[in-house]
Amino acid sequence: MDFIEKFSGVFLIAGLFLFFMAFIGLAVVPVWMVDKVEPRQEIATSVPKLYLDTYSDVETYKAALRKGRDIYIAEACWHCHSQYVRPTANEELRYGPVSMPGEYQNELNLPQLFGTRRVGPDLSRAAYKKSNDWHYAHLYNPTSVVPQSVMPSYPWYFEVKDGVPQPKEEAKALVAYLQWLGSSVVEKSESFASYIDNPLPPKE
Ligand code: HEC
Repeated sequence: MDFIEKFSGVFLIAGLFLFFMAFIGLAVVPVWMVDKVEPRQEIATSVPKLYLDTYSDVETYKAALRKGRDIYIAEACWHCHSQYVRPTANEELRYGPVSMPGEYQNELNLPQLFGTRRVGPDLSRAAYKKSNDWHYAHLYNPTSVVPQSVMPSYPWYFEVKDGVPQPKEEAKALVAYLQWLGSSVVEKSESFASYIDNPLPPKE
């Protein structure tokens, strides 16, 4: 104990110094680097089939993706959702192919949104998993589609007309972003081609 008391000043200064270094390393350097990184992939080269009715050309679609990503950051969706399928614990059985570094080489991943917690499921393979309408219902009131959900609701992205909530531009952009997450990977899967032409499962 004497030892700790004798050097308490040193420990205090060392602690403050390490805190300062962590701040530089984990906050200042990444922000400084993100500004310098040149994205290597296009986020979209055409409007996906799912959005042909909503966005007339690829530039408006890309603007919506950026806006959706900004809302995802602003609402701290990343606080409860990761965007990284890990190569452990058979995660690919639940989420789909393990995440690869190349997937993150685009402007929507600057900064990357890996997240650190999984209160909700990983979203890096969210594309095409649910319909746009499911996402709107879920954002407006998660328990309407998942009764046991603890996800917060986001009603301010909707406008109630004649008693029916309609998605505002923001909700559309956010859902376009969700439907983009992992789309480059999902679109390559074997079952996708038949799915996109016939997205509803066959009736029993
Ligand atoms: C407090 C934690 C929390 C926050 C914040 C949160 N979610 Fe969730 N989310 C969950 C939980 C828990 C689930 C699983 C239950 C459900 O489907 O509602 C979930 C499910 C989802 C799903 C369905 C995923 C799937 O594969 O079934 C999507 C999509 C989603 N959230 C998007 C979002 C978006 C977009 C935001 C930000 C606007 C957000 N979440 C914010 C906790 C959260």
